[in-house]
Amino acid sequence: MKTKANNFNLISQQFLDDYAKNQEPIRVNFKKMVEDIKFQDRATHSIHIYPAKLLPNIPYFFLNNHFFVKDNELVLDPFSGSGTVLLEANLAGKNSFGCDSNPLAQLITKVKTSNYDISVLKNILESLKIEIKNITMDGNEKFPDVVNIDYWFLPNIKFQLYAILKTIKTIKDDDYRDFFILCFSNCVKKVSLADSRISVPVKVKVKKETNNFHPFFDESRSKLKNLENINVFEKFTDIVNDNIRRFENKQKITSKRQTTKIVSEDARNLNLPDESVDLIISSPPYAGAQKYIRACSLNLGWTELSGKDNLRTLDKKNIGRENYSKSDYLTLKATGLVEADMLLKEIYIINPLRAHIAANYLLEMKQAISEASRVLKKDKYFILIAANNQVCNREFKTQEYLRQIAENVGLKTMCRLVDDIKSYGLMTKRNKTASVITCEWVLILKKE
Ligand SMILES: C[S@@+](CC[C@H](N)C(=O)[O-])C[C@H]1O[C@@H](n2cnc3c(N)ncnc32)[C@H](O)[C@@H]1O
Repeated sequence: MKTKANNFNLISQQFLDDYAKNQEPIRVNFKKMVEDIKFQDRATHSIHIYPAKLLPNIPYFFLNNHFFVKDNELVLDPFSGSGTVLLEANLAGKNSFGCDSNPLAQLITKVKTSNYDISVLKNILESLKIEIKNITMDGNEKFPDVVNIDYWFLPNIKFQLYAILKTIKTIKDDDYRDFFILCFSNCVKKVSLADSRISVPVKVKVKKETNNFHPFFDESRSKLKNLENINVFEKFTDIVNDNIRRFENKQKITSKRQTTKIVSEDARNLNLPDESVDLIISSPPYAGAQKYIRACSLNLGWTELSGKDNLRTLDKKNIGRENYSKSDYLTLKATGLVEADMLLKEIYIINPLRAHIAANYLLEMKQAISEASRVLKKDKYFILIAANNQVCNREFKTQEYLRQIAENVGLKTMCRLVDDIKSYGLMTKRNKTASVITCEWVLILKKE
């Protein structure tokens, strides 16, 4: 570990020296720089799916690197999502703080960074296997408040899911119950009629496919066939066993008991004292890209983290959201960033809503970056990972605008790294007016 830390340390020094000479972005490949670790199988990274997860190689590089952070220092991710940065911080011997507006993200992070007694997890699973046989549903009981439950779930599956949830609720210990709720949540979309290859729920195609032998339709057909006779508890048990194995792996990597805490649900108000954090690493949302709440709506409903009427309220907390009423964009807001404002004026003429989404995104990110800067100690680093986007077929230089915002709140750009992300999880087709992200920018910012 020491050699690796020294090596990353030297590479980082070189990056900063080179950038200081000519201010040119440096091409890198994080997959190659951190190639000896199989992140897919590493610890608990894969306990639950989540949209736009960060490539763990990136935080790994900065967290195992004395140039940026020392042992036992405090790491923050203000947009922590499923907790990729926070878990890697723990594995690197650092305590970490997270913040995310999505309650499912908070639950994934909490479980992912917990330490469980493996034998207790196995014993609980055995007792659930017995308990599930006695579960009944009487006339007064209601299904959880899942959006369009009958559209997304076949009747037999709905009952089976309900029985599993009721069984899990008999677990008395909150932390252990959360582990099983998380496994249950990861089962939900797999047994729904939603296509698991698409982030937001879209029903698997069943019609018009009789003459179509494309693998896409074959997969849909076989999913539907399986769902008719599926034993959901068996599927749930497989997920539990896989996740128990992940916790066993995690314990092999580290015996240290670093902690993680979710400190807030809004990156614009972190509930932390001034200059209290040693390193920030974060991949913020983009304007109108991922629909985090819609993507998780079935999970949020079944885990009872949010009923259907609350989904809108949750979405409103999201920076980069798309849902606005017409009265919100009767005029275009100025962001104070010259290039962005010129572009947004052009876009406003073609599509006022898209212009408003992007402008409001930048204004809200300004608040979040300013808040992150407030809690960061002097002479410490903020690693901001972002990409460019397209809005109405025009390049929207998200990473450049975020960098300008960071500079305006007193952070200095020490280096810009650019990585070709062809095979990363962020490669999703966006709405009609946005396009595919192809490069990830890693901005190394310092509070002076
Ligand atoms: C690109 S994702 C982060 C993914 C994360 N790095 C991971 O590996 O899972 C951006 C996250 O920002 C969250 N978010 C959006 N608006 C927020 C806000 N106002 N405060 C905190 N988090 C927010 C979303 O819920 C989403 O989880």
